[in-house]
Amino acid sequence: MGHRRSGSNRRGLDVDARRAIMQGAPTPSKGRNTMSSNRAIVVDLDAPGRLVIRPVPEPAPERGEAVVRVRAISLNRGEVRRSGMAAAGWRPGWDLAGTVERAAADGSGPRAGARVVGMLNEGAWAERVAVPTDRLAELPDKVTFSQAATFPVAGLTALYALTKGGLLLGRRVLVTGATGGVGDFAVQLARLAGAHVTASARRADQVPTLRELGAHEVAVGEEIPATPKYDLVIESVGGRTLGTALRALQRGGTCVALGVSASPEVTFDAREFFVVGRTTLYGFYLFTELGNVPASVGLRRLADLVAAGQLAPHVSLERPWGEIAQVAQDLIARRFPGKAVLTLD
Ligand SMILES: NC(=O)c1ccc[n+]([C@@H]2O[C@H](COP(=O)([O-])OP(=O)(O)OC[C@H]3O[C@@H](n4cnc5c(N)ncnc54)[C@H](OP(=O)(O)O)[C@@H]3O)[C@@H](O)[C@H]2O)c1
Repeated sequence: MGHRRSGSNRRGLDVDARRAIMQGAPTPSKGRNTMSSNRAIVVDLDAPGRLVIRPVPEPAPERGEAVVRVRAISLNRGEVRRSGMAAAGWRPGWDLAGTVERAAADGSGPRAGARVVGMLNEGAWAERVAVPTDRLAELPDKVTFSQAATFPVAGLTALYALTKGGLLLGRRVLVTGATGGVGDFAVQLARLAGAHVTASARRADQVPTLRELGAHEVAVGEEIPATPKYDLVIESVGGRTLGTALRALQRGGTCVALGVSASPEVTFDAREFFVVGRTTLYGFYLFTELGNVPASVGLRRLADLVAAGQLAPHVSLERPWGEIAQVAQDLIARRFPGKAVLTLD
């Protein structure tokens, strides 16, 4: 997925192009290689923070894609890390919110003018992008673009990971990395689903915030105690945290492993894990999960919960997108908690 922007100009030559040919001037093309008023965040190896805003071609939507005028984007650790290693010219960006400028040609998805949230596999950090309509959801008026920009990767990951636990009413759920972007959504959503929620955090000073968020209990430290036991663990830290979380599963419990904020290398006691019986370790990757439930479904659900005042995204930093390089560096250095959102005019 992402940007499939090859091919010829399907609309044929316009008046300017015909005039240019008649006058012997170079033909202005409207295809992929045309520079335009569109701009995007692009990797530049020589720029501080490696990210700059540059002119890029206008999006050339497929029939099932709408063109969105982007008003807010949010940053995720994975894409920022990749920007630090990617080749010059790569366009990062998963999360976006904005207004539909041109509805999809096949009639699917939101109408022109609709306020939407959406996601791409890359390249979402641009003024105008083409987004498949199964990756878009319309926003209720009450939900701001900044709030919505936090939904796609962080919100959908939390929402879809929690579904691996089945019915959560009265079940015990542990969320590790609970102060992070995914963890924040996961604690709130698990609580909303009727679970008894334990949040795991690194430091004692994070306890009050996590309680306010809805956690019934907070476990402090890198290791998860062997008791109490959990029906579902949403695990994003890896290392000792995952290794010890696996022994804290209830019979039939599931640990959803989705991140490695501390370390990808994990040692665990396999016997402690299997003698409990029917325990599962589930590898979760959002882009794969979207093959089961389209992003549009979860994005709309998150938007409705926010509009109803039941879910509150944690936007801790909101800046103009011109500050991308600094905000990306601050994110990697963990200089702020929660989600960073950048706004476009
Ligand atoms: N599989 C998928 O599809 C998928 C989707 C989204 C995210 N992810 C991954 O999931 C993880 C969490 O994402 P996120 O957006 O929530 O990240 P985030 O905002 O950076 O949050 C990271 C969380 O982990 C905690 N943490 C504990 N030990 C840590 C350590 N040694 N180093 C850094 N953080 C540590 C942080 O605690 P403090 O607040 O104390 O720093 C914070 O609560 C990341 O690894 C991300 O790449 C995977």
